[in-house]
Amino acid sequence: FRLLRWTFRLTYLSAIGFVGWVAYTVWVQRNPNDQIEPDPNKKTLVILGTGWGSVSLLKKLDTENYNVVVISPRNYFLFTPLLPSCTTGTIEHRSIMEPVRNILRHKRASVKFYEAEATKIDYEKRIVYAKDDSEIKGESVEAEVPFDMLVVGVGAENATFGIPGVREHSCFLKEVGDAQKIRKQIMDCVETASFKDQSPEEKKRLLHTVVVGGGPTGVEFAGELQDFYMEDLRKWIPDIKEYFQVTLVEALPNVLPMFSKQLIDYTESTFKEEHITIRTKTMVKKVTDKTIEAEVTKPDGTKELEVMPYGLLVWATGNAVRGVVKDLMQQIPAQKDARRGLNVNEYLVVNGTENIWAVGDCAVANYAPTAQVAAQEGAFLARLFNTMAKTDEIEQQLKELSAKQAVAKNGDRDAILDEIEERQRQLRRIKQIGPFKYSHQGSLAYIGAEKAVADVSWLSGNFASGGTLTYLFWKSAYLSMCFSTRNRMLVVMDWLKAKFFGRDVSRE
Ligand code: FAD
Ligand code: NAI
Repeated sequence: FRLLRWTFRLTYLSAIGFVGWVAYTVWVQRNPNDQIEPDPNKKTLVILGTGWGSVSLLKKLDTENYNVVVISPRNYFLFTPLLPSCTTGTIEHRSIMEPVRNILRHKRASVKFYEAEATKIDYEKRIVYAKDDSEIKGESVEAEVPFDMLVVGVGAENATFGIPGVREHSCFLKEVGDAQKIRKQIMDCVETASFKDQSPEEKKRLLHTVVVGGGPTGVEFAGELQDFYMEDLRKWIPDIKEYFQVTLVEALPNVLPMFSKQLIDYTESTFKEEHITIRTKTMVKKVTDKTIEAEVTKPDGTKELEVMPYGLLVWATGNAVRGVVKDLMQQIPAQKDARRGLNVNEYLVVNGTENIWAVGDCAVANYAPTAQVAAQEGAFLARLFNTMAKTDEIEQQLKELSAKQAVAKNGDRDAILDEIEERQRQLRRIKQIGPFKYSHQGSLAYIGAEKAVADVSWLSGNFASGGTLTYLFWKSAYLSMCFSTRNRMLVVMDWLKAKFFGRDVSRE
């Protein structure tokens, strides 16, 4: 009984402690402290973008050391790994967005944020040209923002390889707006196919979704869409049962090239069970409003042109360099051989410059363009900049101490010398920051039907797994990686809502 009583007391106290902690966290979140105002004597650090790289830098940066200015057309951070789930309404898009204002308002010193696009970076003049591209415009639409230090974290745009018709007729999957457009078009195709007197051929076309690109974006979207059909659409609109079809088109001989052979085979067999068609060795060459034209390589090596009608086309063929980055590359002679983005050194400094750093998908540092890499690069830069600020401060103190020592009397001189030595020791310790080293935690992808694949680095080895348990791991991993507690709660609520009540099939 005594044990039971103690267990009860401990549980009771932990519950009170937990509620208290949640209440305190919420209170702190809702009531930020006053911030230190920018100091014009400090260096101006301009950060472009509010994605994985830039936000990870901002999170850890001691903003009181610089005048920090953030420029991005998006005033929020987007948790991209769960974006494919927004296309079918499994997760609502706002659940994976974190307002950048919340992030900045909790920093010690205030940070200026301009919701604008950097249209040009003038390397010589050290100026970023920014343009407000939002719907509502004021008298000031374009501005020049000077910088002492610049971090380019603008990500990448969608690769189309100049294939005709892609931009006009397909949906991409990179931004919130893309996911909303896809969600709307799925329901539009379904309702249009169900319209009175629609011919069977037209129903078949409208209910055929073609996903181009068998990388993780294409695979995850195909899996999510098939889930939507299996769990919701076919129940509420049984008429579409015979016609609904998802086809994944990939130019290479297999999908998910970055995963191990075992997981590629597992993904392909799972897709087969889910009735998702995979068309490998099929390269799309042209897109029209209702069809794609693809070159298919047959087993004997011959090539054949095939036309596939579609209702919804989702284009996920990877990344291309943004215009503003291309322009900067052209200004720097050391970047003349760069193709996939800004070549950076091991401290993420853009080669050929001294005061420009690049992070994430726009930087080429021999790592895959993933959120994991971008986040680690951002965190590294924060450490580097915090260290640089401390170094500047100590060097200034050393100068002052040396001047003092020169005029000091004998007795005082020894004390000053001790202080100088202490500062020099501090400086040596701080300067020990090594170059950036990426630590790969593994790759994860959802493949539909409550299954996921994972290639995880574990105890200096690799561990490959696929299935329902991996799906639970995928869920918990991404939940823990969400930006804030608020995001985590919203995502859990969305998952529960979809499980209990099904996904919303209304077209907004
Ligand atoms: P982004 O996060 O794309 O951010 C770029 C920022 O720059 C944005 O705020 C943008 O608005 C801003 N910007 C754009 N143009 C300008 C401009 N001209 N001036 C100023 N700002 C500008 N990676 C993983 O590791 N795991 C995953 O599970 C995963 N899932 C993904 C799912 C999807 C659907 C997608 C599309 C990607 C996924 N990725 C994943 C890849 C990951 O999202 C990217 O590698 C990551 O976002 C790169 O971070 P970044 O900071 O370079 O760019
Ligand atoms: P990707 O570059 O990984 O894959 C694109 C695929 O499209 C390639 O396999 C390519 O062969 C194919 N392709 C290109 N042109 C084609 C054509 N004309 N016809 C048919 N197929 C064509 O691109 P994705 O999936 O958009 O990913 C971009 C980056 O984001 C990658 O680095 C990826 O690792 C990362 N990412 C990671 C995720 C995860 O870890 N779960 C999820 C989504 C993206």
